[in-house]
Amino acid sequence: MAKEVKKQIERLRNEIRRHDYLYYVLNQPEIADQQYDKLFSELKSLEEANPQFITSDSPTQRVSEQPLEGFKKVEHAVPMLSIDNTYNAEELRAFDERVAKGLDGRNYDYVVELKIDGVASSLRYEKGVLVLGATRGDGTKGDDITHNIRTIKAIPLRLTGDVPDVLEVRGEVYMPKKAFQKLNEEREKQGESLLANPRNAAAGSLKQLDAKITAKRNLSFFAYALGEVSGKFAKTHYESLEKFKKIGLPVNPNIKKAENIDEVIEICDKWKNKRFELDYQIDGLVIKIDQLNHYEILGTTGRAPRWCMSYKYEAERERTKILSIDVQVGKTGILTPVANLEPVQLAGTTVKRASLHNFDEIDRLDVREGDTVVIEKAGEIIPQIVEVRKEFRPKGAKPFPKPQVCPSCGEKIQIIGKKRTGKKEEIAHKSEYTHAYICTNKNCTTLLKERLNYFVGRDQMNIENVGPSLIEQLVESGLVKNLADIYKLEKEDLLGLERIADKSATNIIEAVGKSKHQPLWRLIAALGIRHIGGEFAQVLASSFGSIKKIQDASLDQLTQVLAPALKVKDPKKREERQKRAKSVCEYFKNPRNNMIVNDLLGYVKPEPPEKTSKTNKLTGKTIVVTGSLKNFTRDEIKQTIKDNGGKVSSSVSKKTSFVVAGDDAGSKLDKARQLQVKVIDENKFLQLIQKKPKSKKKSGFLWE
Ligand code: IVH
Repeated sequence: MAKEVKKQIERLRNEIRRHDYLYYVLNQPEIADQQYDKLFSELKSLEEANPQFITSDSPTQRVSEQPLEGFKKVEHAVPMLSIDNTYNAEELRAFDERVAKGLDGRNYDYVVELKIDGVASSLRYEKGVLVLGATRGDGTKGDDITHNIRTIKAIPLRLTGDVPDVLEVRGEVYMPKKAFQKLNEEREKQGESLLANPRNAAAGSLKQLDAKITAKRNLSFFAYALGEVSGKFAKTHYESLEKFKKIGLPVNPNIKKAENIDEVIEICDKWKNKRFELDYQIDGLVIKIDQLNHYEILGTTGRAPRWCMSYKYEAERERTKILSIDVQVGKTGILTPVANLEPVQLAGTTVKRASLHNFDEIDRLDVREGDTVVIEKAGEIIPQIVEVRKEFRPKGAKPFPKPQVCPSCGEKIQIIGKKRTGKKEEIAHKSEYTHAYICTNKNCTTLLKERLNYFVGRDQMNIENVGPSLIEQLVESGLVKNLADIYKLEKEDLLGLERIADKSATNIIEAVGKSKHQPLWRLIAALGIRHIGGEFAQVLASSFGSIKKIQDASLDQLTQVLAPALKVKDPKKREERQKRAKSVCEYFKNPRNNMIVNDLLGYVKPEPPEKTSKTNKLTGKTIVVTGSLKNFTRDEIKQTIKDNGGKVSSSVSKKTSFVVAGDDAGSKLDKARQLQVKVIDENKFLQLIQKKPKSKKKSGFLWE
């Protein structure tokens, strides 16, 4: 019996590995995601029931539970070299001349590859099993990051076919542009500093001690070179790449052979603009001699080989003019300077505005209204001002005055030193502190509008029919002076406003009324406490159970809940969590905040957190949600999916198990149809996660 189970487990593993190969290496999946997920959950349950058969190369064993204490250093058996750069055709021809001279009449060809902008990594396979993943470090010694490398699904834990006993593969771990954008959106929501570009984001992700964080970062991998290898592997570089693919390693599909340097230059020109269409970032091309036996003849210069050269593209930059600088007030009162630009085309879009982030950045750049500036897109996504061309500065242009008062209410602002968050490898600017300019005026109308918009938002109190234009009217008319005033509105008040007819007034009052019984976590999130979004509001709600208890909690108690020492071991992460606890504590130290919250509690009777039923009905499922739902907000359905063992994804792919579609679902629904991914509605989703009804003994009727 046990033998059979073991066989079945092995069969499932091989089947899953084959589908991973078809998906990640050949880009030709054979089965739908649901079928893949079914295989995966089947394997998982079999392994759970028979833990004695679990092996570390099983596809279920990618994410280790225990975070590391620190990184071990590892020596590279073959050094990881860097590459010299060229920037134009002339330099490429000079490289070709040096190669020809070095090879002294021998024939040679080139292979041209994309230069993926990520983190060079070395993967060591012994007898086909991944035993080590390491960073480049100084070229001879790097960090052991095996625990993080294992989480990258494109990297096989075990190779297939005929493989040498020892095989070290070098390649690039990278973060696709979409994953980078999503990560930054998430960080912005949580009040964390933005990551500068996908490369830094990938580097920071690989430097996590906790693999569970890395696993969430959606990293990927392309193999491009050999390290140590036992026995013969290939005669040419191109052949080695082909062989990589054959044994299960993903290789970039845009690799071309070139017979001479003219062909190389043609390929370099072709990618200059085409690179923006890729869904990962490249910073140039890498040109390698194809014949591996020439490598020794050519040798290396210092730390770079003579058989390899990179052709670098300058980051796409444009010159434009700053028409004006606006200062915006955010929901937490922080003032952010934003530059209005003369519209300009850059890396595929028209750019009209660029955030200047904070007033320290204005000082650093010495940027002024009317200045001619150079802008660049960080990760080809977020426009940044990188340079001021002072020679074009209009006469009389004055330094941008730091605000002394809020641009909206005119009240004096507060300036506080703000410690940057985020890993050093990831964040855009290296200085540890910035200064935050904050409007704390309780009567600041812009701040109030921002707070109200946030309060009624879909992921907070979700008050339908109350949007920015109504909030504008409510604040300007003086009807609403704080968050609690929303609940004091009467129909007659609304009828006194412009463009509000009887029907819409009724709808608004109804929607406000309905929101009074939203779950507790939504009310906590809606307060707009810094660093407390939906996720941590849920933690607070389920741990304390009422606002009153949170108000009374000490910093210690809040820290225990938000940064439990036993669970949050990574010191950086602990620090970040402690910051959240401090923020809650500070919020409730402010008597005015307490007054408004108490006032709110006179009207709002939030539903106490129900112990959400947790099942594993969605285990192994990757689910995409789109359109507007009736029973859930985004945060709620995401939490429900997670509570039931599923994974939420933001984009539809062949790996998506199914899509839950509500009203007005757009492009994701189209994509699902195109890829033939199953689509279900909200009711079907509810049925899926429903537990069997409990026996109703009282009625004497027994359910199954
Ligand atoms: S080959 C000695 N191929 O570029 C050559 N490198 O600036 C070994 N890179 O450290 C590397 N794409 O991180 C090679 N197709 C590619 C590459 C590539 C990106 C990176 C790699 C390397 C850096 C050098």
